Amino acid sequence: MSTMYSAKVMDHFANPRNVGELADANGVGEVGNAKCGDIMKMYLKIENNVIEDVKFKTFGCGAAIATSSIATEMIKGKTIDEALQLTNKAVVEALDGLPPVKLHCSVLAEQAVKSALSDYYTRQGVDPTPIIGCMSDDCHACSCEGQHE
Ligand code: FES
Repeated sequence: MSTMYSAKVMDHFANPRNVGELADANGVGEVGNAKCGDIMKMYLKIENNVIEDVKFKTFGCGAAIATSSIATEMIKGKTIDEALQLTNKAVVEALDGLPPVKLHCSVLAEQAVKSALSDYYTRQGVDPTPIIGCMSDDCHACSCEGQHE
């Protein structure tokens, strides 16, 4: 890997936090990017509106691993509402930046969190669309060209 990555990206890529699965997750989301083929899976354990635990598995590039790792740190212990505020931009800032061609990897992290929250609401019998928005495969973020901010 070249020096185009910040020290924080390299740290989260080399030592990703919260890797794995949660057997007792009550919200699980999986998103992928059709162009690069990378896949991110996010497991949430939510109690009383708070994300008590979170784990992820990413089959993808180093930036995708780093963005999902830091995203889990950013939402752990937070309320659902706070987790819904997590933007890919905040993820990029927390990592001290990403090269433009890798911005779509951070979009995947935001989408993975939203997808898991969407699953949580569905399991509660609540329609997630008004709360979270469109999670379908044809939304702009999922078919991104690596240029999203
Ligand atoms: Fe596609 Fe990183 S290259 S998620």
